[in-house]
Amino acid sequence: MQKLIVQGGMPLGGEISVQTAKNAALPIIAACILTEEPIVIEKCPHLKDIDAMINIMRHLGCSAAFDGDNLHVCCRDVSLNVINADLTGKLRSSIFILGSILSRCRKAYISHPGGCEIGLRPIDLHISGLKGLSVKIEDDGGVICCDGGDMKSGVINLDFASVGATENLMMAGALLDGETVIVNAAREPEIVDLANFINAMGGNVSGAGGSIIRVRGVKKLHGCTYKPMPDRICAGTFLAAVAATGGCATVKDIVPEHLFGITERLKKAGAKLTVRNGSVRICADGRPKAIHKLETNVYPAFPTDMQPQFCAMLSHATGSSVIVENLFENRFGYTTELVKMGANITVKDRIAVVAGVPRLHGAAVKACDLRGGAALVIAALAAEGKTEIYGVEHIDRGYESIEQPFAELGGNIVRTEIE
Ligand code: UD1
Repeated sequence: MQKLIVQGGMPLGGEISVQTAKNAALPIIAACILTEEPIVIEKCPHLKDIDAMINIMRHLGCSAAFDGDNLHVCCRDVSLNVINADLTGKLRSSIFILGSILSRCRKAYISHPGGCEIGLRPIDLHISGLKGLSVKIEDDGGVICCDGGDMKSGVINLDFASVGATENLMMAGALLDGETVIVNAAREPEIVDLANFINAMGGNVSGAGGSIIRVRGVKKLHGCTYKPMPDRICAGTFLAAVAATGGCATVKDIVPEHLFGITERLKKAGAKLTVRNGSVRICADGRPKAIHKLETNVYPAFPTDMQPQFCAMLSHATGSSVIVENLFENRFGYTTELVKMGANITVKDRIAVVAGVPRLHGAAVKACDLRGGAALVIAALAAEGKTEIYGVEHIDRGYESIEQPFAELGGNIVRTEIE
């Protein structure tokens, strides 16, 4: 077990690049099942969630191994092993592998992913969407048994624009006869990346990025080499940290348009931003300004995956902010740790009122989920004195050695073993 030790209170500055996106790489790895041929995923991030997906792929008989930063995946033969709870429990989003297994094998067996630290995470939209493609599903709350013997393309109207359900259905339709239409599809950039990947394998997906996606099934997909998009949430995390510490830095190798929902709110918090081709420069002076109301919603609105990091930043803003979490019912757990650092936050249901304090102070705190953990790192960098952050394994699910990019920005942050 490890912890991070952060000496805070200094403005961050400099220039950094971001890793490729975890939330793009995960469905792309799952989609490798759609072809028997080898795939190379370039600059695949080294993360706990990626390892969990690799384990699921190997369990299904695929080969998957890193060669440096490139992940080589080959699903020449796929075995219809039950994906057990010990595998799905490590990766809640494992459910979206169903679509690609069904598309390739017409049968799939997977244990329920269950709830998680940030909410219940039901899978009803995945299930009803697949049923709309004539998949027979038996679900007794344990193993979900899917029979796609009569599977056929169709029109699926999602009640809510779920990212995972949209991805599942795109993969499910990739090898079906005819056209699968997903209405009220999620519009996140990671969806566009998955569409680009399926097309790079010879598929025919159009409309991704809009609310109607059309997947024209093809007979066969082939191998390819693909580099997933840059991680917009990592980029946003670095920008929020610079704003929280009152620094000046450039985050490069990104797609600035993906960050619009984030950069607009950073401007509201008083930061000055310069958007260039592939980079964003941020300059903040002193404490951030409060944001009257910060509300999470589906893309292109402000992302729920940035809510904790902004809460950390606003903890020492000049004034009070209100944060409304619309996506997940239990995503303020990390605030009790921020309070240990001197933050003044009141949570009721899905609303947090953050009264900015002049100064946060160091403390011993524990990360209980991925983005909540990133929020603690930001708070620690902005705080006076030393903070010890436990539960680093949660942060490692989504950030490649988070201490390294922050060290490049001048942050004093080290990882040590817990004795
Ligand atoms: C993805 C992201 C996650 C992000 C989320 C929202 C990945 C691997 N993860 O998760 O980081 O926080 O999008 O941007 O890409 N819901 C249902 N029934 C369903 C499916 C979802 O009620 O069948 C609800 C969820 O409980 C949640 C909301 O819809 O309240 C959003 O979920 P969804 O868009 O599906 O998120 P994920 O794909 O799980």
